[in-house]
Amino acid sequence: MAHGIFITGTGTEIGKTVIAGGLAAALKHARTNVGVMKPISTGDIADAQFLKHAAHVDDELAAINPIYLRHPLAPSVAARIENREIDLSCIETGFAALQQKYDFVIVEGVGGIAVPLRDDFLVAHLIHQLRLPVLIVAAAGLGTLNHTLLTVAFAQRFGLQIAGIVLNRHIPEAAGLAEATNPVEIEKLTDIPVIGVVPYEKRLDTAQPDPAFLADFMNQHIAWRKLGIL
Ligand SMILES: Nc1ncnc2c1ncn2[C@@H]1O[C@H](COP(=O)(O)OP(=O)(O)OP(=O)(O)O)[C@@H](O)[C@H]1O
Ligand SMILES: [Mg+2]
Repeated sequence: MAHGIFITGTGTEIGKTVIAGGLAAALKHARTNVGVMKPISTGDIADAQFLKHAAHVDDELAAINPIYLRHPLAPSVAARIENREIDLSCIETGFAALQQKYDFVIVEGVGGIAVPLRDDFLVAHLIHQLRLPVLIVAAAGLGTLNHTLLTVAFAQRFGLQIAGIVLNRHIPEAAGLAEATNPVEIEKLTDIPVIGVVPYEKRLDTAQPDPAFLADFMNQHIAWRKLGIL
């Protein structure tokens, strides 16, 4: 089993936190010593709070989320407005500390893989620096082929190891023909396993869902074993 995983997405609000929290809760339930990290958040620290709750860890929020920018913008833009420079070394140090403490660390990105942390440093660079395999969260329905293929191509350009793709119905819509055909198409076009299709579930659409339910629900819909996990 790898020492951790980086959860990215085809965009913002696609379900990275819900899937990352789901994996954390599932691993915790299976008695894995699992930690979580959201290196950079902008706008609020809700993701770090969600992940801390799902993984049931005692770390300070500042250890889970070392960099917080007030403006809900791409980090490089928020930093410029706030007259700050993002300290990338504190992410590395924070991640190393969590790696010491935990057997497996789940790291959630910010937005999608090409989002700038600095003008010359994107989320993809951060993934490369942390040496983690990537799990891509994509929407389940129409439009996802394009977004997923672009994300995969971008990750491959950076030499990242893509462990798998999760299709997530992040909005309450009916599962249509696109959702039914997407998994096979994506596997055929990318040669990367689609390890699950997660339906919309109202009980997950909350700041702190019950971790036992979260674990159960994700285990039902995601084949973690295809990543060599669980
Ligand atoms: N399968 C699902 N069922 C119900 N609600 C979901 C599901 N997936 C995501 N959501 C909801 O959709 C919204 C976006 O999900 P989430 O916060 O996980 O996205 P994200 O990719 O982490 O966003 P960000 O880019 O802000 O970090 C949240 O309100 C979340 O509760
Ligand atoms: Mg999130």
